[in-house]
Amino acid sequence: MAGDQKIAPRQGVLRRKPIVSHEEAGGLERSIGLWQLTAIGIGAIIGAGIFSLAGTVANGVAGPAVSISFIIAGVASACAALSYAEFGGLIPAAGSAYTYGYAVLGELVGWLIGWDLLLEYTAIVAVVAIGISGYFSFLLNDFGAHLPVWMLGAPGTGSGHKVDLFALILCLLIAVLLNRGIRSSARAESVLVVVKVAIVIAVVVVGAFYIKGGNLHPYFPYGFGGAVTGAATVFFAVFGYDAMSTAAEESKDATRILPKAIMLSLAISMVLYLLACTVLTGMQKYDKISKTSGFATAFKSVGLDRFADVVAIGAIIGILTVLFGFMLGASRVFFAISRDGLLPGWFAKTNRFHAPHRPTWIIGVVSAAIAGFVPIGDAAELTNIGILLAFIVVSAAVIVLHYRSPDLPRTFKTPGMPVTPLIGIAFSIWLISKLEPVTWLRFVVWALLGIIIYAFYGYKHSKVGEGVAVQTEDG
Ligand code: ALA
Repeated sequence: MAGDQKIAPRQGVLRRKPIVSHEEAGGLERSIGLWQLTAIGIGAIIGAGIFSLAGTVANGVAGPAVSISFIIAGVASACAALSYAEFGGLIPAAGSAYTYGYAVLGELVGWLIGWDLLLEYTAIVAVVAIGISGYFSFLLNDFGAHLPVWMLGAPGTGSGHKVDLFALILCLLIAVLLNRGIRSSARAESVLVVVKVAIVIAVVVVGAFYIKGGNLHPYFPYGFGGAVTGAATVFFAVFGYDAMSTAAEESKDATRILPKAIMLSLAISMVLYLLACTVLTGMQKYDKISKTSGFATAFKSVGLDRFADVVAIGAIIGILTVLFGFMLGASRVFFAISRDGLLPGWFAKTNRFHAPHRPTWIIGVVSAAIAGFVPIGDAAELTNIGILLAFIVVSAAVIVLHYRSPDLPRTFKTPGMPVTPLIGIAFSIWLISKLEPVTWLRFVVWALLGIIIYAFYGYKHSKVGEGVAVQTEDG
């Protein structure tokens, strides 16, 4: 395809991974069409962000202006989504930001973003598990089962809380299932996504009858600053399309449909989010909204107890698809990095079910520990800083490639180059600045650890560095 394949001399930390064409990428059956791919995108986008974090942010950070938080986060995400769409059309292979960064900006950036994705996807699994746990506790309570307080949440999330036991066990269970080769097919995923979207639409339609104008005043109880701070947290709700790229090798005509599916899935999710947030904050006064099971509790507060249970069950099913998707994604990134030699090949071995069981167990145990002991807001922030950084790298890579290799056969071009990706970068930096300093600190520690591992291991063992063909797009 584009450009020459050269046997690379060692090119230091700037050596690049080959860009392979759709035909060269894998030998998997290409059966997924546009709508199924869009469904996979919505499957990974709509989850704990709306079902759990919207309530957390409305009560205590932004008030009814949580809708504005979603709009700010959505615009930032849309700018980056356009860059992802361009890469999706150009490099329709698994690996997402790791692969794009490695192919365009070189090995060190690729490694750092892959290392970052590992933390980010693991934290997503944890956040999503905590989200499910909140709705699960709601259901049990509703049916009269009162569990010991110590097991209902991470320390600091409520009096007597010591561990979120449901969330912790859920992460381990999903790891067990994934290691047995259990993977949702695109069709099963589509069915679950339809259930999830139907629940959100039902919430909007039924909830609209219970909106009280008074609940929406004051709209900015914490000022506009509250809405901005909230955007940094609900940013969690507006990504997921990056995980969709793992299905690229199984899509029909991926270079054409992947960009469309990315944009469609984000657009549909945003419309649903804004309607759902308006209903949530219109039904209950912002300071009464539950931080763990916002929508179900809101319906209970207006006397619709059984409907509240349906919403809770729907939320659990809906969020579960995200949990599966990201644990699978995390283990694949781990697997891909190990296969490239940047981590030991021991991690790239598969078990008899063809699952990369070692990465999956590591992700499962680490996400279980985070889910059990870290409050949902902190875990989400940890996730967001990583995703925002991935967005910055992908947006920067799209600009670099635009000028370095203008003639590559792109099926989708980011409009408004270079302004759109620059806006995406600016938004991402701004949102990062709104995160708590302790989140940056945790992240910097993680990045430093990554640099040390690369310096002492990855650099020496890189397959690309060993003289395998390296892409130079422009020869
Ligand atoms: N966007 C996904 C969610 O909200 C990660 O759960």
